[in-house]
Amino acid sequence: MNMFARSTAPAALALALAGLVWAAPASAQQEVKIGYALAAAPDSHYGVAAEKWQEVVEAETDGRYSFRHFPSSGLGGEREVIEGLQLGTVEATIVSSGTLSNFVPETGVFDIPFLFRDLAHARNVLDGPIGQDILAKFDDAGLVALAWGEQGFRHITNNRNPIASPEDVQGLKLRTMENPIHIAAFEALGAAPTPMAWPEVISALQQGTIDGQENPLSVITSAKLSEVQEYLTLSGHVYSPAMLLVSKQLWEQMTPEDQEAFRKGATEAVSAMRGFVDNVESAGVTKLKEAGMKVGELSAEQKAAFQEQLASAYEQYYQTYDKELIDQIIATK
Ligand code: PAF
Repeated sequence: MNMFARSTAPAALALALAGLVWAAPASAQQEVKIGYALAAAPDSHYGVAAEKWQEVVEAETDGRYSFRHFPSSGLGGEREVIEGLQLGTVEATIVSSGTLSNFVPETGVFDIPFLFRDLAHARNVLDGPIGQDILAKFDDAGLVALAWGEQGFRHITNNRNPIASPEDVQGLKLRTMENPIHIAAFEALGAAPTPMAWPEVISALQQGTIDGQENPLSVITSAKLSEVQEYLTLSGHVYSPAMLLVSKQLWEQMTPEDQEAFRKGATEAVSAMRGFVDNVESAGVTKLKEAGMKVGELSAEQKAAFQEQLASAYEQYYQTYDKELIDQIIATK
C-alpha cells in the first residue's frame, strides 16, 4: 500500500498534538524533544536526510535532543507545517519550495522553469551567495533556514495521454504545488493547473478529479505514483529545491554549540539527500517502467518548444524578480 502523504489524523489536531507532546523547553540539562514533519515516507530522500540530521545532532549533543518523525504528511500539508514552525508547535522540517514563496517571496526565483541546466548548476547556486542570501531572509519570517536540500528535476505524470509537445498538455487537469511561479507556467502552456496540498493528491488522482501531477523521480518512486498514473514524461521542466528549517523558538533557546550541531547535521543531511537524488535519477526510471509506467523523454528540441510557449510567463517572472539576479543565476557555472 502507498503510505506516502496519507495523514491519519486531521492536520490541525495532529499539529496541536505534536506541539503538546513534543515541544519542550530547552536547557543545557534537559532532554529536548523535536517533532520533525516530513511530506515523504521514511524510505524517501526526505527520510534519509531526516535520519542523518538526527544521527549527527544526537552524536554531537550526547543525545540531549530526541526526535520523533511525522513522515508521510502526518502533520498535514507543507504550508500547515511551516505555519506550525512559526507558532512553535513543530520544531523541524524539510519542505519543498512549494509554498515557501508565500513566506519569503524571493525564494520563488528558483521555481522558474528551465532555469537550471543540471543538478550541479542548481547546487552551486544554492550553496553560493545567491542561495545563502535567500536562506538568511527566513529570519524575518520567524523561521530558521539552515540549508538547501533537493528533490531533483520535476517531471509530469498523467492518465490522459503521452506528452511530447505543449499541445499535449492543453486542458490537462494537472495538480501543481501552491506555487504562483509554477501555476503561471502551466497556465501559459494551456494546461488547467490545479494547485493542491500534497496530502490530497493521491486520492484526487484515484478519483480522477485531476489527470496528473508533476514531481521529481524521488517523489514519483517513493510515493509509488505508478499505482495511480499511466504516463511519465521526463520533462525536467523545473528544478525542485527543498529546505531544512527549524523553529525560531527552538533555535533561540539553544546554546551556540547546539546550534552548531544542528547546522552540521543539516549539512550532512543535504549530502545524504543529494546522494539519494543522484541515485534515483539514474535508477528510478527503470523501476517505474518495471512498475508499468509508459515513459517518454522530451528531446532538446521538444523542451525548446515548451520554453517558447512559456514566453508570457517569463515576462511575468521578469516583473517579479530582478532580471539581473536571473541572469546571474544562469551565468553561474
Ligand atoms: O509536490 C509537492 O507538493 C512536493 O514536491 C512534495 C511531494 C510534498 C514533497 O515535498
